[in-house]
Amino acid sequence: MNQRVIPLADVRQLQQVPAIPGTLAPPVGLLQDSRGRALRDLRISVTDRCNFRCVYCMPKEVFDEHYPFLGRDALLSFEEITRLAQVFAAHGVRKIRLTGGEPLLRRHLDQLIRQLAALPEMEITLTTNGVLLAKRAAELKAAGLHRVTVSLDALDDQIFRAMNDVDVPVATVLAGIDAAAAAGLGPIKINMVVKRGYNDQEILPMVRHFRGSGHILRFIEFMDVGASNGWKMDEVLPSAEVIQRIHAEFPLEPIDPNYPGEVAERWRFADGGGEIGVISSVTQAFCGGCTRARLSTEGRLYTCLFAHSGHDLRSLLRTGASDAALAAVIGEIWGARGDRYSEIRSEATANRPKIEMSYIGG
Ligand code: GTP
Ligand code: 5AD
Ligand code: SF4
Ligand code: SF4
Repeated sequence: MNQRVIPLADVRQLQQVPAIPGTLAPPVGLLQDSRGRALRDLRISVTDRCNFRCVYCMPKEVFDEHYPFLGRDALLSFEEITRLAQVFAAHGVRKIRLTGGEPLLRRHLDQLIRQLAALPEMEITLTTNGVLLAKRAAELKAAGLHRVTVSLDALDDQIFRAMNDVDVPVATVLAGIDAAAAAGLGPIKINMVVKRGYNDQEILPMVRHFRGSGHILRFIEFMDVGASNGWKMDEVLPSAEVIQRIHAEFPLEPIDPNYPGEVAERWRFADGGGEIGVISSVTQAFCGGCTRARLSTEGRLYTCLFAHSGHDLRSLLRTGASDAALAAVIGEIWGARGDRYSEIRSEATANRPKIEMSYIGG
């Protein structure tokens, strides 16, 4: 494995960022896009496959017959991923989130986590559907994983089975969450995608269940990602309504973000029962603080969740590009970035060609 880390001064030179007078080493994270947004988070998709067929993400009709999943050679190796992660770290990235598809389907994922966890000052997180978590939580923690986020869309078995469309019961995911908590992977965030008319009646049961557990339940507005989920605006339940419904039973108070640009808006139970979050990409865009880059399983770099094409870093890796050259290319791509899809979304943009959520991992 190539362990060479690019000195920050070299990165700065490549980016042609002038040094701040009177300082020796340049501060980290100076790279900015065309809207002044830094590059802080890297979301790495490690597989485009999934053991669920969530109706809002990988509808069976589209994905079960002849969907062209990536072949083995197409995937970045762990060494390639780690090498890119080092270059991103030199550009200011401080949080890596492993995604999929379902990331726990990638064989020997703990090995990759071990390699990434060796990067200084890097937080390593993972988003999973939780099915394989009960078996794997302890091993992931031992490898250096810091936190997990688990998706769960209902507490009612029938509704959950209908949402995941592969008949997995709620108990399997709850066991995964318990194992993750026991392994020290908390505080655990639980993501519930709310689709009006499908699972919105589960909002309150989910709140009642997770209140006081120490886990942070977050409600995500159904988004028009990809081209296959048949998104319609009238199936989006605005977060404001989610908050109203919860507030009527459990009074809520808004709280400050943990860090600038946090995706979820935080609320706490007035009686001390913990906190919840809402992620309102449709009704309250948060592009202004978007510091996230996404790396696909086959090594394409996407600067927005709603992009239709990515920049091929794999071919650079496989034709012998140096770390400095990789850093220069990434710097150039980020510097030119102007994405703000959620701010300009409309019924018309929903039909644009876009990458699938399962390919890029949310
Ligand atoms: P932490 O604060 O570190 O826990 O991470 P996070 O809040 O970014 O959580 P997570 O990565 O789980 O994001 C939650 C969900 O928000 C994702 O699964 C997406 O559905 C959505 N999301 C995250 N980032 C973006 C983004 O850049 N744009 C849009 N539109 N949605 C996003
Ligand atoms: N809208 C909102 N969230 C989605 N996710 C997947 N597809 C969508 C969508 N269309 C969420 C998953 C998971 C995360 C990776 O993204 O539920 O929590
Ligand atoms: Fe569901 Fe996540 Fe799998 Fe998509 S990638 S089908 S949201 S579990
Ligand atoms: Fe970032 Fe694109 Fe999401 Fe806006 S829509 S927050 S630019 S990923």
